[in-house]
Amino acid sequence: MEQHLKSIKVGFIGGGNMASAIGAGLIRRGILNPDNVWVSSRTDRTHGFWRDLGARVTLKNNEVVNNCDIVFLTVKPHMLDDVLKSIVERRAGEKFETKLFISVLAGVSLDVLYVKLSTIVISPRIIRSIPNTPTMIGEGIIVYCSNNAEVKDLELVDMLFSYIGMSQTVSESLINSIGGLSGSGPAFAYLIIEALADGAVKMGVPRPMATKFAAQVLIGAGKMVLETGRHPGQLKDEVCSSGGTTITGVHAMEKGGVRGSMMNAVEAAVNKTNELTSRLK
Ligand SMILES: NC(=O)c1ccc[n+]([C@@H]2O[C@H](COP(=O)([O-])OP(=O)(O)OC[C@H]3O[C@@H](n4cnc5c(N)ncnc54)[C@H](OP(=O)(O)O)[C@@H]3O)[C@@H](O)[C@H]2O)c1
Repeated sequence: MEQHLKSIKVGFIGGGNMASAIGAGLIRRGILNPDNVWVSSRTDRTHGFWRDLGARVTLKNNEVVNNCDIVFLTVKPHMLDDVLKSIVERRAGEKFETKLFISVLAGVSLDVLYVKLSTIVISPRIIRSIPNTPTMIGEGIIVYCSNNAEVKDLELVDMLFSYIGMSQTVSESLINSIGGLSGSGPAFAYLIIEALADGAVKMGVPRPMATKFAAQVLIGAGKMVLETGRHPGQLKDEVCSSGGTTITGVHAMEKGGVRGSMMNAVEAAVNKTNELTSRLK
């Protein structure tokens, strides 16, 4: 299968953060052949990055669709109409059918994608996904759904995604809610790492050491949850001895309303995405 993936031509319309998280993740892991990766963008701002990876760059979106088997839509949601307008004029000999489109656009439903992509392709096969930026280092989360992709498309995409993180197909009704955790979550986690490090710095630990250890605390705690299968509350109880230091710190966190803040953060991110979905209906 890995050999098969190397022969697949993969395109990204939009060469920014999310394209580089997915594309660079797959190229650096040796899963995709950089010579088979095409990236288009509005300006050449990101072209140096892609050229250094060995990928092909262009300012023409139709070249990406024409040359690739799988086309990732990695622009911001409000840019999609311009992208499609730039593709609609088919040049002689260009083939747009038989492509699989994978959207990462937050909030844009399969129905809306189908209507919009139908302006350039008859009966487009579409996968809607929500990746996150840690895909760049193989530690991402990518959830996805589709109404009309073929089984072989889903198997291929699942295989591709599993090289850069946890990959899981989900019902479309859950996509926005999961995105508020997995897509926005890295930013929430960076804030926690920074805050834990600030606490240690306040208590005299040098900043680089504090940041490194704070990040490792989150990695270690996350792996404990995943690998032991134990409830986080149980793991927390096991660290908190009676009358001890850790329960004293936990009390300080609870007084600061950390649980409510975290829940509010996910809820706010999901509500914002749901607003976008309603606007685009
Ligand atoms: N960032 C996340 O963690 C995250 C998580 C989940 C989903 N998403 C989704 O990922 C998508 C992309 O976000 P991002 O953070 O990667 O955005 P970004 O870094 O701003 O990149 C957007 C890219 O689109 C290109 N572009 C703009 N107009 C274009 C056009 N008409 N034709 C071709 N390319 C065009 C830009 O070109 P230039 O380089 O020339 O400006 C840029 O390369 C969004 O829809 C977002 O909802 C992001």
